[in-house]
Amino acid sequence: MKVVAELTIGNPKLPKWSSIHSHISGLGLDDNGKAKPIASGLVGQVEAREACGVIVELIKEGKLGGKGILFAGPSGTGKTALAVAIAKELGEDTPFVSINASEIISAENKTEIMTQAFRRAIGIRMKEVRKIISGVVSELKYIKKSSPFLPQPVLGGARLALETKSDKREFTVGPEVASQLQSFGIRKGDLIMIDAETGEVRRLGRVKERSSFAFDIDTERQVEMPDGKVQTSREIVRTFTLHDIDLSIAAQRAAFTIFGFLSQERGIDDEVRRQTDEMVKKTTQENKAQLVPGILFIDDAHMLDIEAYSYLTKAMESEYAPIIILATNRGITTIRGTDEKAPHGMPRDLLDRLLIILTKPYSQDEIMNIIKIRSDELDVPLTEGALNLLTKIGLERSLRYALQLLDPAKIFSMRRNSIKVDESDVENASKLFSDVKESTTFLEKYKELMIK
Ligand SMILES: Nc1ncnc2c1ncn2[C@@H]1O[C@H](COP(=O)(O)OP(=O)(O)OP(=O)(O)O)[C@@H](O)[C@H]1O
Ligand SMILES: [Mg+2]
Repeated sequence: MKVVAELTIGNPKLPKWSSIHSHISGLGLDDNGKAKPIASGLVGQVEAREACGVIVELIKEGKLGGKGILFAGPSGTGKTALAVAIAKELGEDTPFVSINASEIISAENKTEIMTQAFRRAIGIRMKEVRKIISGVVSELKYIKKSSPFLPQPVLGGARLALETKSDKREFTVGPEVASQLQSFGIRKGDLIMIDAETGEVRRLGRVKERSSFAFDIDTERQVEMPDGKVQTSREIVRTFTLHDIDLSIAAQRAAFTIFGFLSQERGIDDEVRRQTDEMVKKTTQENKAQLVPGILFIDDAHMLDIEAYSYLTKAMESEYAPIIILATNRGITTIRGTDEKAPHGMPRDLLDRLLIILTKPYSQDEIMNIIKIRSDELDVPLTEGALNLLTKIGLERSLRYALQLLDPAKIFSMRRNSIKVDESDVENASKLFSDVKESTTFLEKYKELMIK
């Protein structure tokens, strides 16, 4: 398909999560969608995890576009953690965009940043037929040529013969392909694949009957001699986001105007987006591409203002809309930009469109298990006493505070030349670093002296 060949853009990537959630690898559900007590780095929060499992299933069936979910629960109950788990379950092919409401609020152009987030959260899966050359190397000779700049000859290309069970072809390749063959150490007997359009070389393994030595333990991938033709066409599936296509069209346009930099400064205008939408509509109608609604996750959503909320409500109903997941730890609070109080600080017409998932505070056991998982992840071995003390801190003060003490406590244990963190290390760490409650009380006490 022509359109794809013109685009020089890659797959949507998962967002980079801050390391406080690095222990999470998925939702930890069984085949029936039931939450295992401790799995994939997650502990407890059973109903919420199972609800997330339903969301993942609906997304995979393409059934949830334009819907909204709200995670509501106290701080430290795993709302952001669950969003990370959903992203991990969906894999790289489904776009997942994560943004904090504060990024939207502080942006110069709120509508623009929200529009971009929406469009990055919608994927287009395109099938593309590419010419591929693939076979087992039966001859390989590098061609050297003299260089006007260097005393010694340089790589000028290579002559290459590729074989399958029923076919053999010879090729002369240019220096770009030849240097890849050389750097991968390709030799006779290797099964390779070359993308005829981009010249990209991939080594797929080594053919069994060509190996002159058989090793008991061999790291090389052994493959069968392939069937079929050396030169073939293969279908490749790639996913782009609407935003990727917007960028690509905007760049192409800029290249055609003398004052290219001016249009680049202006960014992506409505006309570009209209053109993208038209192209997407056409290719999906012709069954050449498939729409993949992804997820737009807005953390700390109560920070949005009335303007952002009305954009959100409207955009959720537009033709191409991702699934919106919002998270908040606020109960009844003022809707920003108004004097009105409302549940979660959100306008009624938005709330009415949301499915709500509650995250509840953890039990003592669950807190202990989360601390254990994090101490493993951070490589901070704990004595039983230290684990009990941290659990108590997690229960009485906050889970996040207990988790944050792990790294500083390790410093204290290292100063004692101990490989394990014990109670005294935790106590020392908590003496130096306060939690939010403590720092707020402190500021209240010294109110008159602090800058207002
Ligand atoms: N069920 C869980 N299993 C394992 N780790 C968890 C779980 N819930 C929370 N955590 C971990 O505890 C810490 C706090 O959780 P998280 O940041 O997700 O809370 P939150 O509900 O988003 O809080 P806030 O409202 O303050 O944003 C994180 O490091 C998170 O990865
Ligand atoms: Mg959070």
